[in-house]
Amino acid sequence: MIKTSISILDCDFNNLEREINKINLSNADLIHIDIMDGFFVSNNTIEKFDMGKLSKYSKKKFDVHLMVDNPEDHIEKYIKPLTEYISIHIESKGDISKSLNKIKNNNIKAGLAINPNTKISDLYQYIKLIDMVIIMSVYPGKGGQKFIENTFDRVKMLRKSSNNIEISVDGGVSSLNSYNLISNGASTLVSGSFLMKSENINDSIKNMLKDS
Ligand code: DX5
Ligand code: ZN
Repeated sequence: MIKTSISILDCDFNNLEREINKINLSNADLIHIDIMDGFFVSNNTIEKFDMGKLSKYSKKKFDVHLMVDNPEDHIEKYIKPLTEYISIHIESKGDISKSLNKIKNNNIKAGLAINPNTKISDLYQYIKLIDMVIIMSVYPGKGGQKFIENTFDRVKMLRKSSNNIEISVDGGVSSLNSYNLISNGASTLVSGSFLMKSENINDSIKNMLKDS
């Protein structure tokens, strides 16, 4: 079963309850929360995401993506009953294994996100510690960017080395690239603009998952 995770980075934060309700009513599996600290990437979204409000409105589990320099200092804030995954970046500062263990010790699945210019083989040393890899298919920092084509090969390479790891792909994902991602081994598709801007989220999810 391929999962879908909807990024709310560019949703209408003035009408957050309505936006989250749209997702609640959809067949998406997860809500993807993009946390940026203004250092790891230039945008800062720390104040934008009110975990109290999100927890109140959401019926879906959270897939938290930390684009921050020092993940260990941020993890605590996102440990919530609805949090299923917290992912940190392999390029971030500090002790990666320690942060991953902190996530796992709270009974939350641990993910490692990797930027387009970082070698897939750099992940291998952490594979036993993690449940999921997020392969970035854009340079992190903002939504609505163009999908980078060599992501297909990167997904394939990681899938070859690990049969059971969850592989999520994040950035510019739509029905134009979903089929190829899934056939190369992706198990979760993160989508922001394609799903949130579509007329009917469920029709668009169906389109992304057709033939899979
Ligand atoms: C990029 C974020 C992504 C992105 C997804 O830094 O991690 O989650 O917002 O949005 P789309 O699907 O619009 O690229
Ligand atoms: Zn993301």
